[in-house]
Amino acid sequence: MHHGDDLMSNTVNSRISGFHKMTPAERLATVQRAVGLDGASVEQLGKPGSLDLHTADHMIENVISSISIPIGIATNVKVDGRDVLVPMATEESSVVAAVCNSARQCYDSGGFITSMSGTLMIAQIQLVGVSDPKAARIRILEQRDKIEEVCNGCDPMLVRLGGGFRDLEVRVIEAEGGPMVITHIIVDTRDAMGANTVNTMAERLAPSIAEWTGGKVYLRILSNLADRRLARARATWTLDAIGGEAVRDGMISAYRFAAADPYRAATHNKGIMNGVSAIVLATGNDTRAVEAGAHSFAARSGRYTSLSTYEVDADGSLVGTLEMPMPVGLVGGATKVHPSAQAALKIMGVATASELARIIAAVGLAQNFGALKALATVGIQQGHMALHAHNVAMVVGAVGDEVQRLAKILVEKRQVRQDVAAEELARLRGEG
Ligand code: MEV
Repeated sequence: MHHGDDLMSNTVNSRISGFHKMTPAERLATVQRAVGLDGASVEQLGKPGSLDLHTADHMIENVISSISIPIGIATNVKVDGRDVLVPMATEESSVVAAVCNSARQCYDSGGFITSMSGTLMIAQIQLVGVSDPKAARIRILEQRDKIEEVCNGCDPMLVRLGGGFRDLEVRVIEAEGGPMVITHIIVDTRDAMGANTVNTMAERLAPSIAEWTGGKVYLRILSNLADRRLARARATWTLDAIGGEAVRDGMISAYRFAAADPYRAATHNKGIMNGVSAIVLATGNDTRAVEAGAHSFAARSGRYTSLSTYEVDADGSLVGTLEMPMPVGLVGGATKVHPSAQAALKIMGVATASELARIIAAVGLAQNFGALKALATVGIQQGHMALHAHNVAMVVGAVGDEVQRLAKILVEKRQVRQDVAAEELARLRGEG
């Protein structure tokens, strides 16, 4: 179990006043000072469209270009007693602001407390065509030592780093067309997300499994239901911080709605993923792996439900928790190759994959709190509209300080629409 102990100690203060009023360059300079970011990272983040085509061309096939997504910094976040500035890559307005606000409201009551079940990944080997599946299962289990040897032989480096094979499970599942014998190898992949590692092991083991059982092996691939790699976060929001009992009770009711209804749970969890995927993306990790893990874990009981919980503690405060699979790594893949991902990791000052996973869980919970609070009170549109108005203003051609002025008019009129924006822009220009 990891709990707070492997966090790098530093003295970052995540409470930066007036951060949202600065220009992007001023914010970057502020982050540089706050976390002691190196010059190369600052230069990398300072140039928009920062993925050079040569690097891009080596990441995927048939490259013609790259797309830039804004990276915003979430302030006020405290995780296990340490302040952290969190880079979030997202195209959606209000997401970063929601984290800043939610984190500020639990900062004085301790911020986010996090933990992790471990860094274990599961790979599956599918075996079909055995007439005696129950005996086949036992035959595979008998080979545990051999399986451990083959798995660890695939990645001696991982073993030296303290990872490697941990456990073996064999399940007989009833599928259309007859039973299948499904072998799970459970591997500690440490600071790697681990897909390549466990896929290699599964492929290497498959011929032996066919040989021991007389069956035919088809699929050899990791499971994205990474339920041995759960990140957990909890936080307490006092009544004073959230604005009283009525707000708290509205939020509890919102949570209960999500817990009871898959239609609502999908949206509730999407809000969590607004925070989660933004950091996963900013650090070059696999957003789809984390999303698949989240939603399959949310349906683990057979009925899709909320990933978070909310309760009232003995003091009447609101206590929120989040627990979800968090298969993210610091080594391998785009995380190592993309210079902005490296810079994002440096800003957070994380030294292990589990530290990163725990920060992501904290931000997922913050995001969820922000959405529920808005939904239970003023509604989501009020917050959304201000930045959405900026987008609409730019779409109709506003430039320079016109963007700000036009957005303000649209919000005041409560009509954030392109046709209205075009008219108002013409009027503004006419006046000027
Ligand atoms: C929007 O991106 C996310 C929300 O819909 C989440 C929620 O409803 O809880 C606001």
